[in-house]
Amino acid sequence: MRELDKRLTALSRHLVELRRAFHAHPELAFHEVETAGRITAELERLGIDFDYQGQGHAVIAHIEPPGTAGLPAVALRAEMDALPGQETTGAVYASRYADRMHACGHGAHMAMVCGAAALLVGEPPPGRVRLIFQPAEERGGGSRTAIQDGALDDVSAIFGGHVTHEYVTGQIMIRDGDITAQSDRFFINIHGKGGHGARPHEAIDAVVIAGFLITALQTLVSREVNPLHPSVVTVGRVQAGSAPNVIAETAVLEGSIRTTREEMRRHIHHGLRRMCAGIAELHNAAIDVRIQEGYPPVVNSPREVAIARRAAAALVGQEAVVAAEFPSMGSEDFSYYLQKVPGCFVRFGARRPEWEPVPLHSPGFDIDEAVLAVGAGYFAEVARAALQEYGQAWNSGAAQHTA
Ligand code: NI
Repeated sequence: MRELDKRLTALSRHLVELRRAFHAHPELAFHEVETAGRITAELERLGIDFDYQGQGHAVIAHIEPPGTAGLPAVALRAEMDALPGQETTGAVYASRYADRMHACGHGAHMAMVCGAAALLVGEPPPGRVRLIFQPAEERGGGSRTAIQDGALDDVSAIFGGHVTHEYVTGQIMIRDGDITAQSDRFFINIHGKGGHGARPHEAIDAVVIAGFLITALQTLVSREVNPLHPSVVTVGRVQAGSAPNVIAETAVLEGSIRTTREEMRRHIHHGLRRMCAGIAELHNAAIDVRIQEGYPPVVNSPREVAIARRAAAALVGQEAVVAAEFPSMGSEDFSYYLQKVPGCFVRFGARRPEWEPVPLHSPGFDIDEAVLAVGAGYFAEVARAALQEYGQAWNSGAAQHTA
């Protein structure tokens, strides 16, 4: 049995206890006080320094073995928040509260990163490791708060992951490039001029304008976006008019935009506004547009994907490292970190082979707890592998300077 496997086996009972404590006491976005207390207690137990500014902030911990001052640092990230809703798993460790639960498995991620910390303290890495326990992934973009709190200061790269039933326990999904979509919403108000149904020349018909606009918007994706980049524009709600013989003064269109590339997203937002302005001009009407932005897409960087694949293969074997063919249309605020530094976000299979898959955010979502050791081992290995690689580049760079 390999040394890491032995240490993971020794650790796994503790990881299950940690995860169950997090899971049984869920807290909603920006209210993760008890949760942060559990994390800081664990960090103190491990002798790891941390910064924490209180409710609504991230717990940011520093593993800096002697002799690593000035060497590269990599970050490992977990989320602290839970979701509203009542848990139906019936597990002994189910949520103690009727109105909230860890339906997205964030309790597992916190236990994994705490486990990685224990492994890294036991066998110091060749550089510095930052642990980020962020608030509010589910809403509010808590990763931006963590960044403001200094989570990424002096960090070369960041690694994160998420449990899922799409894969069985032991499998790790690692994909190059875009892995989640951006989901934005739009709200369009068309202002025409109401009138009698028999006297259209006295009115500006908002229904006719809405019809032109709905058709025009469909050409944004079909004619303006590279077909190799998945994108969607859907008008999901239309409201106008009050009677068959009355020309509608106003119309409302609402819809959703899904994109996986920032360039496409910008293009569609701009194009949607351009078409609204053009059609308003065409029909002598006024059209207001509001776009509500969701999280940007998560885009993994090639070098960190290669490091993640090596670390995962060393842990679970090459055949258990899988790659999804397409990005998920879900979203993740890990993207805000990746706008600042390179990194890689993976998915940890967390389903026993005999289980029916249960989607994330379902009241009955639970994990196979064997994934906790997989995640802890992966996070420790990926940090070590990244620091080794960056350290070599750093040394050869330093050597060139002195040559
Ligand atoms: Ni989640």
